[in-house]
Amino acid sequence: MASYDVIVIGSGPGGYVCAIRCAQLGLKTACVEGRETLGGTCLNIGCIPSKALLHASHQLHEAEHNFAKMGLKGKAPSVDWKQMQAYKDDVIGQNTKGVEFLFKKNKIDWLKGWGSIPEAGRVKVGDEVHEAKAIVVASGSEPSALPGIEIDEKVVVTSEGALSLPKVPKKMVVIGAGVIGLELGSVYARLGSEVEVIEFLDHITPGMDAEVSRTFQRLLQKQGLSFTLGAAVQKVDATKTKAKVTYKLRKDDSEATVDADVVLVSTGRRPYTDGLGLEALGVKMSDRGQVETDGHWATSVPGVYAIGDCIAGPMLAHKAEDEGMAVAEVIAGKHGHVNYGVIPGVIYTHPEVANVGETEETLKEAGRAYKVGKFSFMGNGRAKANFAADGFVKILADEQTDRILGAHIIGPMAGDLIHEICVAMEFGASAQDLALTCHAHPTYSEAVREAALACGDGAIHS
Ligand code: NAI
Repeated sequence: MASYDVIVIGSGPGGYVCAIRCAQLGLKTACVEGRETLGGTCLNIGCIPSKALLHASHQLHEAEHNFAKMGLKGKAPSVDWKQMQAYKDDVIGQNTKGVEFLFKKNKIDWLKGWGSIPEAGRVKVGDEVHEAKAIVVASGSEPSALPGIEIDEKVVVTSEGALSLPKVPKKMVVIGAGVIGLELGSVYARLGSEVEVIEFLDHITPGMDAEVSRTFQRLLQKQGLSFTLGAAVQKVDATKTKAKVTYKLRKDDSEATVDADVVLVSTGRRPYTDGLGLEALGVKMSDRGQVETDGHWATSVPGVYAIGDCIAGPMLAHKAEDEGMAVAEVIAGKHGHVNYGVIPGVIYTHPEVANVGETEETLKEAGRAYKVGKFSFMGNGRAKANFAADGFVKILADEQTDRILGAHIIGPMAGDLIHEICVAMEFGASAQDLALTCHAHPTYSEAVREAALACGDGAIHS
């Protein structure tokens, strides 16, 4: 029986980051992973492969729509789907091997197989039982199924199947206008599929600032995606090559059907804790299947912690990473902390969409007086030069104190731009602090400064 200070179960961004931080803090650490490669959903079948396909398909879009305008003449490239898949697989390989390298470098043992916790202080992997002073459950999440829909990962797919379809479908129906549906829907729309998104709510991207959400939908429509909103999908009838999606319009209960070559079911994810033996162990679970934890990621069983998608909060790789680092600090007797008020969210479409903190809707609901500083990328020289002037930056600041409460960006590199606002918020900055900070010209980040200026005496270029 091998003995460890910490055994982390799951090697996704939560688990592997936690294991590395534990090792850095001098703890003898192992990480259990049953997949052939490390990195979990994010690296193998999620964030990373989808970004490879988004990048490749965006290049095609640029070639088809913008090259000629810049004097770059010639036929746009055609899609070699097999090669695009090979590129994506290579990107996955580089990233998962990178984590394996980091494990070796930090002397973390990879316990290969699926783990369970027969009792506190013990982790079973295959036939072997290992001892651990602390156990961190970082087992992640899986797509949540809808009743009446059977997933075959060929015609009716989740995000996993959608990343490796045998060919680009003629018609794709996406169920759910959330992050996954819009990112992968964008990929296939750019590659030539007719993409129809069916969404239960009357707007896309639930929880997002309403103005951004409306602009986002309009821009996606311009790119060829179509939307059926206020529609509850009832069932999907599939053969080996085709599917028929039946939905009910909420406004009048009328039923309609739509045919598709591929149906992507992207209606959310749920915690994955199967086979861990948590209930037998007495770990308290919420009625949504999440592991319940206290402010220090401790479960109801002493010595067992949980982080990432399997606990409450947004299902985001970076939230899991932060929790992974913080719980490692706690286990090492230090002070781990995550500021849940400053966790950015990004959708990697084109334009990108990014947000942090409060929305106008949440501020109104809380009855908090706020001001809005908004700046359109139309007034940003760099964006205009790069055919990227669609969208805007919106900063929400406290009416009295000017403290930044939230920010919403739709536009070029929004996912990177949001971080200067995150840093500002971590320091409790005012919009004026951002406005008084010199920003290099010409950069997209000038739009952030202009939005901050707009919270005060006004932006210059609007
Ligand atoms: P989501 O929760 O973002 O969106 C699901 C959508 O499906 C909602 O708009 C919901 O109203 C709709 N829906 C539910 N039932 C429906 C029905 N019967 N008919 C029609 N519409 C229905 O879920 P999604 O996109 O599957 O993503 C899962 C998780 O993965 C999210 O937590 C997301 O944050 C995370 N993720 C994050 C990424 C990023 O940060 N870029 C990328 C991919 C996933």
